[in-house]
Amino acid sequence: MIRSNLRQRSSLAALLALAAAGFVLGGARSSVGVAELSTRAEPLKPFVYRASHCAACHNQDRAATYYPDERASMICRMNEWATFDASDRHALAHAALTSERGRVIGERLGLDAATAPACLSCHAAPSTSLPGVRWSEGITCVGCHGAYANWVEAHARVDDPAWRGLDRAAKERDFGMADLWSVGRRAALCVSCHVGDPSQGRVLTHAMYAAGHPPLPAFDLSRYAQDEPRHWERLSEKSAQRRERLGLPADPFESTRESLVGSLAALKAMAELAAAQASGTLATAGQETWPDFARFDCTACHHGLRGSSTWRQERGYRHAAGRPPLPEWPGVAAMLSPGGEALGEPLDAWHAAATVRPFGDPQAIATTARQVAAACDRLIERLEAEPIDRSAARALLTRIAQAAHQRIPDYDSARTLAQMVHTVIVELGQDAPPTALSARAELDRILGLSLRSEPTQKTLIGPDYAPRLERAAEYDPSRILQLFSQLAPAP
Ligand code: HEC
Ligand code: HEC
Ligand code: HEC
Ligand code: HEC
Ligand code: HEC
Repeated sequence: MIRSNLRQRSSLAALLALAAAGFVLGGARSSVGVAELSTRAEPLKPFVYRASHCAACHNQDRAATYYPDERASMICRMNEWATFDASDRHALAHAALTSERGRVIGERLGLDAATAPACLSCHAAPSTSLPGVRWSEGITCVGCHGAYANWVEAHARVDDPAWRGLDRAAKERDFGMADLWSVGRRAALCVSCHVGDPSQGRVLTHAMYAAGHPPLPAFDLSRYAQDEPRHWERLSEKSAQRRERLGLPADPFESTRESLVGSLAALKAMAELAAAQASGTLATAGQETWPDFARFDCTACHHGLRGSSTWRQERGYRHAAGRPPLPEWPGVAAMLSPGGEALGEPLDAWHAAATVRPFGDPQAIATTARQVAAACDRLIERLEAEPIDRSAARALLTRIAQAAHQRIPDYDSARTLAQMVHTVIVELGQDAPPTALSARAELDRILGLSLRSEPTQKTLIGPDYAPRLERAAEYDPSRILQLFSQLAPAP
């Protein structure tokens, strides 16, 4: 302990230099005894540490301050900063608002994008005026991990048995460290910005899109985690000792689980957005209520017209012909979860309420959307507890093929299904059916599943949008359907 304290002194000096004055750092708190930590239930103190604060210790591959045996005893690799610093676009989230595109969007909406809560809600985290916050940092480490001084100060001491004895629930409840190891919690965090969350004022309206906001891609948690890119180890990559400290077993189908839970979370988020806007109870004043075109399927209105019969006409209309329907992709993917059939009825009622007349019946939309959200919650809870094994994963491929044959998938649904195919096949490894392997490679190619054209570069997405939108506009499901049928024999 003495040795490591000495060893840490230099990093603490660096920290003091980096951090703004007034921070209470690990060294200053080392007088807090072990017993005191374990019994302490102090009120949570909101505080936004800057990312550079974390960099001082979580950058061991570049700047070692721990002995190898100390590092091996830790719950994580301690090199997370390098990944974030090199490639993570979240650090640029506020720079997007001050970029030319961001400025123009603001101008068209009559607001200052760099300071408007309607934009900060997703482009800075935390986005409220907490002590220490600097929005220019975009989405910071504690924006996801919990903006409280309690855990940041308590967690960083080397080999502290009191902290190390805490389980995930206690770290969250008593110290404010978000338990992102719960796949449900992680999915809810990511979709709160990548789909929306009315309770936190995270709402993209059609006015924002029309002013120039890029359309959000269909969300898949496993893809988004990979492309962030992931700065954490998967459970299967962790040592047995680290897994034991987390209280979690190795999960050979961790990404498949992420995909399924993420789809349910995305569907829930869409339902909550619709419910809040249709019932006029949106937290942020001045945002559109109903109808907000952004809650409907964008491509229902935004597509070119052709003389001959199109795949949309061939597919037929789910409810009334010619009225804007809700987006289909989140439901298509969410229905694939174990027990997903339970979603059929509420989902159908919601879609019907949205098309009973043009732009639907707001009251019925709100009621049915809340039922969809509640059904998603039940399925997420079930899925978090349920083991996924090889036969379940193979069965999932068959269900994906069936879903594609039951109803011609639109572009976003095809991408979501193809992403799930990708994830399941990677995790099945040698157990994947050979025909599915070649289908997967071509689906990846045609649909361009990766969000990053240059995986390691940390630049604004800007130039990637045009090719993405062209791909969507040129979508033709016929080849895609053939590929899905190679996953499993058609029913
Ligand atoms: C003074 C060094 C130091 C600083 C500064 C520091 N950490 Fe850590 N961090 C550690 C150590 C040591 C561990 C391993 C703790 C363990 O094994 O229980 C750790 C572990 C973690 C974990 C995993 C914890 C768990 O229980 O699952 C997260 C997440 C984390 N740090 C985030 C951050 C963030 C975000 C910041 C900046 C706000 C930060 N850390 C600042 C030393 C530090
Ligand atoms: C519901 C959350 C949300 C809200 C609200 C929101 N955005 Fe975004 N914004 C995003 C996400 C997520 C992306 C990344 C989309 C992607 O992956 O393609 C993004 C992307 C952008 C980009 C492109 C970034 C780049 O790297 O090129 C700009 C510019 C932008 N937003 C500006 C704004 C402005 C201005 C506002 C307010 C009027 C706003 N956003 C409100 C979530 C949001
Ligand atoms: C967009 C949200 C997000 C941001 C921003 C973010 N993290 Fe994480 N981080 C996660 C998720 C999700 C996990 C995986 C679950 C967990 O460990 O809690 C994770 C895991 C970690 C871990 C544990 C790694 C492991 O292998 O167990 C550390 C340490 C960590 N992050 C540090 C940081 C630091 C330091 C920053 C800023 C430089 C940062 N994170 C920014 C979401 C985020
Ligand atoms: C507070 C809002 C917020 C949260 C929470 C959040 N993101 Fe993001 N994310 C954004 C914004 C905004 C951008 C666009 C940043 C830019 O380019 O300016 C983004 C960009 C991304 C990108 C790059 C997207 C692209 O089109 O290239 C990925 C991947 C991503 N986030 C994954 C995640 C994952 C995984 C999580 C959960 C662990 C998460 N995000 C949580 C707001 C958020
Ligand atoms: C109910 C039909 C409808 C739906 C659904 C819809 N829009 Fe629109 N959109 C319109 C109309 C009408 C305009 C105004 C057209 C004009 O003035 O040229 C428009 C304008 C736009 C514009 C600016 C005009 C342009 O040519 O670029 C963008 C961008 C846009 N919408 C994006 C979206 C996105 C993204 C979605 C889904 C999240 C969506 N829209 C859903 C009808 C719709």
